[in-house]
Amino acid sequence: MNIQVRYFSKLGHTKDIAEAIAQALEVEAVSIVNEKEFPDTDVLFLGGAPYANVMDDKLRQYAKNIDPNKVKKVVLFTTSNWSRRTVRSLRKILTEKGIEVEKEYFYAHMLNIKNRIPLAKEFAKRMIEK
Ligand SMILES: Cc1cc2nc3c(=O)[nH]c(=O)nc-3n(C[C@H](O)[C@H](O)[C@H](O)COP(=O)(O)O)c2cc1C
Repeated sequence: MNIQVRYFSKLGHTKDIAEAIAQALEVEAVSIVNEKEFPDTDVLFLGGAPYANVMDDKLRQYAKNIDPNKVKKVVLFTTSNWSRRTVRSLRKILTEKGIEVEKEYFYAHMLNIKNRIPLAKEFAKRMIEK
């Protein structure tokens, strides 16, 4: 099974969660800003956060450009102060492209990242067993 972890993070919270997910699945977490290649993927974990209510445009464009033929399923994760909006927006973009998006997603409050790390790892493992 090919698993990829991609994220966009300005302050490092989403990066921490991405790295926990990647570590649990023994893959690398790659920032969308540094991505060099994107292989055919069974499960793509994709994460981001809201800034002044919206995700960064780089993440929006990244999601819009995902090739539906290269990804079987996407699992979303997000961090924020209160909003889950990034998940809703990414889900909309991806499903409109015909990409399957897992119903469950992982959320971590920005002040609670450390405590959520073990849960992110459990979540990741559970998601690939589905
Ligand atoms: C400029 C700025 C604007 C933000 N706006 C929101 C917001 O509208 N809603 C929210 O829930 N969190 C907001 N946050 C909190 C971030 O979403 C939160 O810190 C998140 O974990 C950042 O992810 P990152 O560390 O991966 O960049 C904002 C943070 C910053 C720095």
